[in-house]
Amino acid sequence: MFLSSSPIAIEMNKIDTLIIRRPDDWHLHLRDGQMLSAVATHSARCFGRAIVMPNLSPPVTTCAAAHRYRDEIKSVLPASSNFKPLMTCFLTDLTDPREVQEGFNLGIFSAVKLYPSGATTNSESGVTDINKITGVLEAMQKMGMPLLVHGEVTDPEIDIFDREAVFIDRVLRPTMARFPALKIVFEHITTSEAVEFVRSESSRLAATITVHHLLIDRNDMFKGGIRPHYYCLPVAKRQVHRLALVDAATSGEAKFFLGTDSAPHEINAKESACGCAGIFSSPLAIELYTQVFDRENALDKLEAFASLNGPNFYGLPINEEKITLVREPWKVPESIKVKKQIEIIPFMAGEIITWRVLT
Ligand code: NCD
Ligand code: ZN
Repeated sequence: MFLSSSPIAIEMNKIDTLIIRRPDDWHLHLRDGQMLSAVATHSARCFGRAIVMPNLSPPVTTCAAAHRYRDEIKSVLPASSNFKPLMTCFLTDLTDPREVQEGFNLGIFSAVKLYPSGATTNSESGVTDINKITGVLEAMQKMGMPLLVHGEVTDPEIDIFDREAVFIDRVLRPTMARFPALKIVFEHITTSEAVEFVRSESSRLAATITVHHLLIDRNDMFKGGIRPHYYCLPVAKRQVHRLALVDAATSGEAKFFLGTDSAPHEINAKESACGCAGIFSSPLAIELYTQVFDRENALDKLEAFASLNGPNFYGLPINEEKITLVREPWKVPESIKVKKQIEIIPFMAGEIITWRVLT
């Protein structure tokens, strides 16, 4: 399978214990209600902070809603948990710049999320035309507030595998030209075009990279049959793109940082005639990233990617605490069940992972 590391790779690499600053997850779907209770601890067990996506139903569009959601997240974690959810505002055609300003100034919103309307799960009320949000982008530019972008066009004429690359030319490049100081995170990049574009721009543009896009290419969705648990958006691309992402993530370059895009869906919503997009990776994300960096002989770059580049881009302090990873095999659960009502299949269910976090 695509993850098995060869004995030669293990021989070459003598490091069996790795201590890094506590990492953060700069792109996470925690959901709400019972699903939130089922998944939050999987992120809080190793990440210090997470940028929490606002695509609930209804989406988080106001300071009051973000406040309530943050309280709900904290309420499902043990009182001893230091996990810090960083909230985001879901941008619509009607978002009032004053709401965004107030949220940022009060420390309720860390960033604003742009979903092109219809691009992905719960994005129907997203932005239909970037020109409709000029006032919000102007305010954000002035305040230095990051815009997080789901970078795919929704034009049905464009092949799904080309939607990210086309987004760069149709939306991202012109928007960056119109707002020359706006800080932008190109979320969950999946193509060599995105890697090149991010590298070609100044430090005000960065990108998150998921662990699943470092590991799977589009063939994995069809290995021996259709594999709904490898389906996410943006969809995995060709191998050549995956390799470009691995190169970017393991380069140590300040513009690339960790964002799992862990996006749980109930088993029935995934294994269906029209299954939802989203891969649930939080139970094994940091371990898998470590495995990728190990395979690339780049363990010395993991801390920059996982724990330093993100806070530096957001202008936040880096975590003081550390975590320890050890080379020790364990098996990913086949499924995660909570109170009979919820069952989620994690990424790499039933596979052996070679790194473990010491708790
Ligand atoms: C995400 C979800 O389910 O909320 N799905 C996904 O495939 N990544 C939405 C998103 O980030 O596109
Ligand atoms: Zn996402």
